[in-house]
Amino acid sequence: MFIHPAKSALLVRLGLWIRRSLFQIADRIVPVQYALFERSIGLSETMMISVVCEAQVPELVSEGPISTRELARLTQMNADVMHRILRALSARGIFHMMPGTEGLVSHTRLSRGLLNETAHASHEWAQYFGSVGNVGAWADLRTSLLDGRSAFDRVFGETVWEWFAKNPAAEENFAQSMMGVTRIQVPIILDLYDFSQHTRLCDVGGGRGTLLSAILRSHPGVRAILCDGPGVLSSAESLLAAAGVRDRVELIPGNFFKAVPEGADCYLLKNILHDWNDDVCIQILKTVYRAMQKGQTLVVIEQLIEPTQSNALASFSDIQMLVACSDGRERSSAEIEGLLKGAGFAESRTHFHPITCVIVAHK
Ligand SMILES: C[S@@+](CC[C@H](N)C(=O)[O-])C[C@H]1O[C@@H](n2cnc3c(N)ncnc32)[C@H](O)[C@@H]1O
Repeated sequence: MFIHPAKSALLVRLGLWIRRSLFQIADRIVPVQYALFERSIGLSETMMISVVCEAQVPELVSEGPISTRELARLTQMNADVMHRILRALSARGIFHMMPGTEGLVSHTRLSRGLLNETAHASHEWAQYFGSVGNVGAWADLRTSLLDGRSAFDRVFGETVWEWFAKNPAAEENFAQSMMGVTRIQVPIILDLYDFSQHTRLCDVGGGRGTLLSAILRSHPGVRAILCDGPGVLSSAESLLAAAGVRDRVELIPGNFFKAVPEGADCYLLKNILHDWNDDVCIQILKTVYRAMQKGQTLVVIEQLIEPTQSNALASFSDIQMLVACSDGRERSSAEIEGLLKGAGFAESRTHFHPITCVIVAHK
């Protein structure tokens, strides 16, 4: 197993280290109960951000300072509760409520980041984290602590993907959120791996094709297959067209538990394995292995986490995967390598970055 740190990874590590140090200083200058109380009320902040995004409050505030009464009128919400939520959020630096007014609200750097046209999809993530599906699953975390199993499947009686198929608005919200994450990860992935060495890629569980679009735009000689459920693929059409790559992408519905398309020379699995437990991951990897020819490449893209190393993003994502996906988890490079070997792949090579990593294996 080889591990290569990418250059920009050092800057990201430094930024995260400075941020963590400042938080530690901030915690030391307040009473310990205050610091803990603030951590314990995270749920209320999640819900308040989620509902104001759902009501399109960030968009209305961007027209200029606006009163909470007017916001309530425009969104047809309760004026008293609108005022109280925005007052609470402004205490956390999300929106600014001007003192001495009847509740005039303007943007801060953070609330402006919640505008729904921003590429990183903070607006969509905020809605997703406060959604009935996600909060309903988190409410049963105590049972997961007892039985070690995913909360979502237990609470809703089906996997999140089956549930999304019956709840198109929630599916759309999640897909938009994932597209935002992928847009942040794309420059890192393109830096970590040279896709121009391949002629035809197949992105398995590739969602709306955000990653494929970016790869194809960077490498005009490459063609691709996008494989996902039929509902997801139909919504990918217009996005691929808007990216100018529709004529280079074949949309082929597939199920990674049964069969995925043959005929590519490089297969991609991005943020798929962390949704599932080890046995299911090996099943998915074996399906992809069957579609591949000897010597062909598999590129797995995941954030990696070592057993005793806490990381602000991956450690949280690890529990989010446990709660909201089917016994999902974030893994170490050795654990991913174990899964790859379990499915028959030869030795893998890990290209490391604190935001996302690229693991390359061959059949
Ligand atoms: C966490 S999302 C990742 C999407 C994309 N790879 C990305 O990183 O943006 C998981 C994807 O797996 C797809 N998926 C779930 N079950 C699947 C199955 N049985 N076969 C193929 N795709 C599936 C979902 O529709 C979804 O697009």
